[in-house]
Amino acid sequence: MNPVEKPRKILITSALPYANGPIHLGHMVEYIQTDIWARFQRLRGNSCIFAWADDAHGTPIMLRAQQEGIEPQELIDKMKQEHERDFNDFLISYDNFHTTHSEENKYFSETIYLAAKAKGNIATKTIKQAYDPEANMFLPDRFIKGECPKCGTPDQYGDNCESCGATYSTTEVVNPYSVVTGATPIEKDSEHYFFKINDYADFLKEWVNSGSVQKEIANKMNEWLEDGLNDWDISRDAPYWGFKIPGTEDKYFYVWLDAPIGYIASFKNYCDRDDNDIDFDEYWSAERNQNNETELYHFIGKDIAYFHTLFWPAVLKSADFRLPTAVFCHGFLNVNGQKMSKSRGTFIQARVFLDHLPAEPLRYYYAAKLSNTVDDIDLNLKDFQLRINSDLVGKVVNIASRCAGFISKKFDEKLSATLADEALYQQFIDASDSIAQAYEDRRYSKAMREIMALADLANQYVDEKQPWVLAKDETRQQEVQDICSLGINMFRAIITYLKPVLPELAAKSEDFLNAGELSWNDIATPLLSSEIKKFKPLMTRIEEDKVDAMLEANKLLLAEAATLQAKTNTNNTDKDTDTKMSDASDTTNEQDPISPTIEFDDFAKIDLRVVKILKAEHVEGADKLLQLTLDLGEGESKGQRNVFAGIKSAYEPAELEGKLTVMVANLAPRKMRFGMSEGMVLAAGPGGKDIFVLNPDEGALPGMRVK
Ligand code: MSP
Ligand code: ZN
Repeated sequence: MNPVEKPRKILITSALPYANGPIHLGHMVEYIQTDIWARFQRLRGNSCIFAWADDAHGTPIMLRAQQEGIEPQELIDKMKQEHERDFNDFLISYDNFHTTHSEENKYFSETIYLAAKAKGNIATKTIKQAYDPEANMFLPDRFIKGECPKCGTPDQYGDNCESCGATYSTTEVVNPYSVVTGATPIEKDSEHYFFKINDYADFLKEWVNSGSVQKEIANKMNEWLEDGLNDWDISRDAPYWGFKIPGTEDKYFYVWLDAPIGYIASFKNYCDRDDNDIDFDEYWSAERNQNNETELYHFIGKDIAYFHTLFWPAVLKSADFRLPTAVFCHGFLNVNGQKMSKSRGTFIQARVFLDHLPAEPLRYYYAAKLSNTVDDIDLNLKDFQLRINSDLVGKVVNIASRCAGFISKKFDEKLSATLADEALYQQFIDASDSIAQAYEDRRYSKAMREIMALADLANQYVDEKQPWVLAKDETRQQEVQDICSLGINMFRAIITYLKPVLPELAAKSEDFLNAGELSWNDIATPLLSSEIKKFKPLMTRIEEDKVDAMLEANKLLLAEAATLQAKTNTNNTDKDTDTKMSDASDTTNEQDPISPTIEFDDFAKIDLRVVKILKAEHVEGADKLLQLTLDLGEGESKGQRNVFAGIKSAYEPAELEGKLTVMVANLAPRKMRFGMSEGMVLAAGPGGKDIFVLNPDEGALPGMRVK
């Protein structure tokens, strides 16, 4: 870790987000973790290239595009733009963000496959698989639902029951149906291509235990290796959104084959840019890297460790590409002590967060929680708010704001020529190695603790010296300048140490300190006799109502998405879950059920109208229902309707009166225990208090047709 050594040449990646869904705060754990490491390396004078991409292939993306009535290309282009905007706003300093649906990736996928084939590592086998006879496609497990074979709950996914927790195989599901069309799946034979991973079992046993993989992950992989691996199925039948396998007519590379190759492809795309003269082979050829001349690290979540620590190294080995120096695996994000959940509204989208709060506090909070283990980390929103206000605003920024005023007002913005307490400042210099090592080891929480301990020291010093008291004494002005100058120098060291985590705060501080870019090595040389600029507030407190508003907005968004999904059967699989190891399924995200597709004609039959709620009343003896009297206005289907709606848990009747909502106006009247219900109002939400009656806005009038 000696910074005068030759700069290291490092290439790092984050796992490629699927291009069929928005970025959420769970993803951001990884992307912030990676970014902090990249910025740290660069701050230390090393070269660190951060190249990654969107993961743009697979069945969920194909189906989602179909359902939106657009080409997959259009969907992935749109998602890529949204993803990049989120990453930029979270200050992720990547060098290249590509897509797996690229020329480069096609080239490398084919090259790697053909190399593996030439080595005899590819086999073909005919297997039986579930098939949707209406959609004419094979179905991944995640696209089959039915009754749980153990407890009979309907609408359960093909692999596990959300009600009783049982896991089973798709063939055991009772009355199975395809979520694509609703048809009953049949079994059909198909020839598949396999990567014979056992050809590399010995190599993997060694590699996994070579120090390139964290202990906990190595243990898990050792278990799998002991049990013996199955050949890895790398093909999918048409229709599939991906790359065709060379030499076949209708077989495609399975998304997980070309996804990690996307790391290589993104880097290649980066190398090929005009302004670069980076030697691609220096980073990826096995021959050129026998002594790890360049370093390669993959940051990933624990749910995809299997792919990165078994398949990926074996594939690379087979095709004579270099191996990762290490795979860095992190745990999962919980929110307020529980798994992120759509129904609790804690599946927080990156964009919603950014609409209400700045990025840096989250970066700091994650840093304060992250270690080099695969333990899950918790985002407790109350703790988040308190921590930012106390650590960053109360401690760090406070040092500068306490000292800067005196320097500006009394000493023409000029710092003293000497350090008031050299021994104290020496402690700030001495902390350098330990903080650097903590960053290097991804023990960010340790680094943050050590930096905050320095901030405490600095504040104690100012507290003790009380420059505001001395300032009143004309004979002690030199002391005031010296104390405040030391304060500013301690602040400078702290901000330099925090720069990988808080790049914006660092930039503002650089401006204020007026002495160029903060660099790690310059901490040893304090600012003496130099001029600073006038102090402007560097960071503001986080108010509770901002956090609340963010959560509310997120709940609304999730509720809207759920209604939209119920209406259009938009498949929202955040993950291509059929692709992940069930062994890691404790980490998979919650999914909402998908209803069978309806034809447009069916949809067109639904007459949705804006109505005014004239009256809302409790219903004697009903736990869930409110009785609504709705006014359809002056339109063609004029008149009033009586509707029973299951929204009692969420609304007091009086709140609803006078509001506009949307109803299905042509639903056949139904006789209920409490009377006739003449239609249905639309509401969305996970349930309980969180049911939201749809409220049309912007000049809607009763009777208007909803398009
Ligand atoms: N597309 C694959 C990765 C292919 S890499 C060649 C994928 N995509 S993902 O969008 O589901 O996840 C991307 C990364 O985000 C993964 O490393 C995953 O572990 C991480 N996370 C997704 N949800 C997460 C949390 N709730 N918490 C922490 N990390 C999470 O997997
Ligand atoms: Zn069950």
